[in-house]
Amino acid sequence: MSQRYAKITGWGKYVPERVVTNDDLARIVDTSDEWIRTRTGIRERRLRTENDTTASMSVAAAQEALAVAGITPADVDLIIVASSTPDYLLPSVASQVQDMLGARCGAFTLVAGCSGWVYGLVTASQFIQSGGYDRILVIGAEIISFALDFTDRTTCVLFGDAAAASVVEASDEPGGLLSFELGSDGSGAMALYVPDGGNVSPISQRTVDERRQYLRMNGSEIYKFAVRTLSSSLKRTIYDAGLTPDDIDLYIPHQANARIIESAARQMRVPVDKFYINLDRYGNTSAASVPLALVEAVEEGRLKDGDLVAMCAFGAGLTWASAVIQIGTGEISLAQSFFSLGRARYLARRTSDALLDSAQSALLPLYTFWYGRRKKE
Ligand code: ACO
Repeated sequence: MSQRYAKITGWGKYVPERVVTNDDLARIVDTSDEWIRTRTGIRERRLRTENDTTASMSVAAAQEALAVAGITPADVDLIIVASSTPDYLLPSVASQVQDMLGARCGAFTLVAGCSGWVYGLVTASQFIQSGGYDRILVIGAEIISFALDFTDRTTCVLFGDAAAASVVEASDEPGGLLSFELGSDGSGAMALYVPDGGNVSPISQRTVDERRQYLRMNGSEIYKFAVRTLSSSLKRTIYDAGLTPDDIDLYIPHQANARIIESAARQMRVPVDKFYINLDRYGNTSAASVPLALVEAVEEGRLKDGDLVAMCAFGAGLTWASAVIQIGTGEISLAQSFFSLGRARYLARRTSDALLDSAQSALLPLYTFWYGRRKKE
């Protein structure tokens, strides 16, 4: 069998109509537009209306993606829905989506926190590259507001509801998924979790009294994890594709906090305007975040045929997932030929990155010490 490539050929989104601004939240919790904007970059988010369900939002996004790809639900071989906020514990939201779309195929829900859609893209690509399937719908959908405590200002200002979908199709032409990294560090699980509602602690009167059915987060732990992970995982994945950070046309990071993205850009020595940002309008939409950013980047004309895109998501688990893809069909100049100029440039950038990273890690304790002393003075 000739080599098969897994390409994104369709994209679509659904965002609820209800816009909730920072000022709206400041009327219900002790916060301000100024605090939220300067600490996160978020200006507003969408929250579900009573007609929105995780399944209905997934279906709306999927229908748009199918139309862009020019295929019908009958052509779909598999549906993967990445979500941590399904409509029911059982059945799987993916089966609801399959039925509502009118597709006749397998369907499963994938739970990997905010990294779920990138995990789904990589999973779909394996089915395609192995020859098992030709067309797969990968959806990221969350009604995360359902798990938010709107009396807790440290979490409720950060998130929003949305769904976004992609069609991943088999192709004989090079492109599509070039490299990926999937990661998990369960030792940090309690930095972002919902205490009650599972087997260990089923819903009870205490749950409701103590608001334990809502998401709890150690913001600064997640922040440190995110900054560490975003740049390092992106770099490994880019080098794995035989590319350097300079070769990437557009970065699509998880839309959690603009400061996390700016810090990753600095660490990677890449101009921050190469990082696509739409979190100002939607906040953190968890598993919908990266595919929603991808759809909007395409709609805004930020991507053209042949462009190289590096994406990375991180979240509950703790998990992370990175992927490098090529849009459409293009000539990828990978640094594969041993004596080529491209190879020399690749090795030079990789070596200088490694040296600068080591220098940064060596200087970090000194900087922390100096910063701590300055704060005390
Ligand atoms: N409005 C006003 N004040 C607030 C708010 C708010 N919404 N939230 C917290 N504060 C206060 C705190 O109570 C604290 O006050 P104190 O000093 O009197 O105790 C002060 O602001 C500073 O709090 P910090 O936590 O130090 O603020 P920080 O600058 O670290 O920003 C933030 C907090 C935005 C949560 C940051 O840590 C962050 O972005 N972390 C990552 C969060 C994240 O990405 N989560 C999701 C990832 S996984 C997923 O996507 C599901």
